[in-house]
Amino acid sequence: MEKLPCKSTAIIETVRGNKILNLDVPFVPTPLEIVNEMLEMTHIRPGDRLYDLGCGDGRIVITAAKKYNIDCIGVDLDPRRIQECRINTLKASVSDKVTFLQSDLFDVDLREASIVSIYLLSNINLKLRSKLFNELRPGSRVISHDFNMDRWLADKSVSRGNHSLFLWTIPANMSGNWRWTLPFFSENLKFNIEIKQHFQKAHASIITPENALVKALSICGDLIRLKLQIISNRHRVPVHLSGNITGDKIKGRFRISGMNYENWYASREKNSKTNII
Ligand SMILES: C[S@@+](CC[C@H](N)C(=O)[O-])C[C@H]1O[C@@H](n2cnc3c(N)ncnc32)[C@H](O)[C@@H]1O
Repeated sequence: MEKLPCKSTAIIETVRGNKILNLDVPFVPTPLEIVNEMLEMTHIRPGDRLYDLGCGDGRIVITAAKKYNIDCIGVDLDPRRIQECRINTLKASVSDKVTFLQSDLFDVDLREASIVSIYLLSNINLKLRSKLFNELRPGSRVISHDFNMDRWLADKSVSRGNHSLFLWTIPANMSGNWRWTLPFFSENLKFNIEIKQHFQKAHASIITPENALVKALSICGDLIRLKLQIISNRHRVPVHLSGNITGDKIKGRFRISGMNYENWYASREKNSKTNII
């Protein structure tokens, strides 16, 4: 079975009519069983919108539209591929669900996408990384056949025979200094914590209060989960917080030891956010 070569950085000159196309990657289709596996890994939900960047004969978008009834957009620079996509779409009766764009994948606006699939080469994945971070909303998924994203480690990877699949979820940028107040028995504890983040990996340090420790922190899409410990009268009191970030605000819930959940609001200090890629 034909596969993309592991190492290739060459631009492929292809002639269509009297035009020369500079393709970054040659056409090699993903086998259908791998297409199905890629789509399953992304946990498609109603309302998702999938973009296949370098869509070849359209098999990923057509399968996603048919199987999951979601809107899909296929992008390919090669007009021959787009023509094949249109024929295959008619055969599969999914014309109302799919759109094809003959365009360079780097010129396509991805802000409406919630899933991006790719079967490109390593150097193209790397070139694409900042575009994915800049344009996709937190929580969007990226699925790649065979090629990873270097230091942006996949959240999930699987091997199927000689095929590898990599899945990422775009994380919100939670870096910076965050402040909030929690009622803690008879006092109000003022929290000031600093989050450092690199891709989806984050580390929090407590600036105040001095009697609090960070036990765990995770970021998935726009959801932050934080486990703290407060030392009070020689007792270690666990505090669980979870919330969603929008801009410079977090809104969620917290729970101190065995007490009930209460609302949690946090805000980020102006200009404390940093680049995470
Ligand atoms: C390896 S094939 C993948 C096809 C399909 N996504 C699949 O997995 O079956 C890569 C595709 O990317 C297209 N391509 C290469 N460079 C491109 C670019 N700069 N912009 C858009 N499409 C490109 C090629 O024409 C080819 O169809």
